[in-house]
Amino acid sequence: MSNRVVAITGGNSGIGLAISECFLRNGYNVAIFAQSFERMQNVQKKFPANTLIFSGDVSSTTDLQQFYQQCNERWGGIDIVIANAGVAIPENIYNVSEESFDKSININFKGVFFTVQTSLSFLNEQASIILISSIQAQRGAGIWSVYGATKAAVRSLARSFAQALGDKGIRVNAISPGVTETPILNKFGFEKENLTTILQQVTANTPLGRIGQPKEIAEAALFLASESASFITGADLQVDGGLAQI
Ligand SMILES: NC(=O)c1ccc[n+]([C@@H]2O[C@H](COP(=O)([O-])OP(=O)(O)OC[C@H]3O[C@@H](n4cnc5c(N)ncnc54)[C@H](OP(=O)(O)O)[C@@H]3O)[C@@H](O)[C@H]2O)c1
Repeated sequence: MSNRVVAITGGNSGIGLAISECFLRNGYNVAIFAQSFERMQNVQKKFPANTLIFSGDVSSTTDLQQFYQQCNERWGGIDIVIANAGVAIPENIYNVSEESFDKSININFKGVFFTVQTSLSFLNEQASIILISSIQAQRGAGIWSVYGATKAAVRSLARSFAQALGDKGIRVNAISPGVTETPILNKFGFEKENLTTILQQVTANTPLGRIGQPKEIAEAALFLASESASFITGADLQVDGGLAQI
């Protein structure tokens, strides 16, 4: 469907980049909000007529409001909001600092809440909102206590927002990716051999026998944003090769 407008946070890397490019290839206009301007420019160079880029911090409501203002001035309303920006900081209970706790909460939970709240006055009718959670929302792991809790909060927001916005025809759904090959894996700070061992364990425990690719999450987002998903709201679409389903 062409001419519809997507606003996505974190649309310059990994899953968000794949989502941005997937919607652009399918004829949507895409507004990207992230911190690295250079990586957003790389997308804009490929699709100059249909891309808007804005550098900001998702934990700042001022930045988010300015972003939506620019989208509105350019395209006159937004059809799809995708709250994707996130960080994953692996730390066990003994090592979590107040600073890293606040960082995770501010980006992954507060950021998602206000990505949606600040968009509301700019949404067109029948808008679709997609929140990127994680299968870690429903699993336990010593190093992911804070991250998992933020992602459980995101899953919860999809339920409450769906209830709150349903009377306006606005659908709100979550996507929970399994382990997906993106730059986030190299931000964990694991030794290369340890990361390889962890990914081998994940692969062995996944029914489809591999980790996911960002474009596979993007296809799920494209479906949830489309008319094909017109009666789906409050749901969590788990795109994980079966890892958390067995
Ligand atoms: N990859 C996985 O295995 C996996 C699994 C489950 C869920 N997820 C979730 O999927 C989402 C995308 O992750 P990814 O794997 O694609 O990681 P990624 O490649 O590291 O991308 C993270 C994105 O978030 C943006 N971001 C981070 N902090 C921000 C801030 N303060 N303000 C604005 N943007 C910010 C980054 O932009 P800048 O670099 O410009 O700051 C980047 O675009 C995250 O919510 C993550 O938790 C990933």
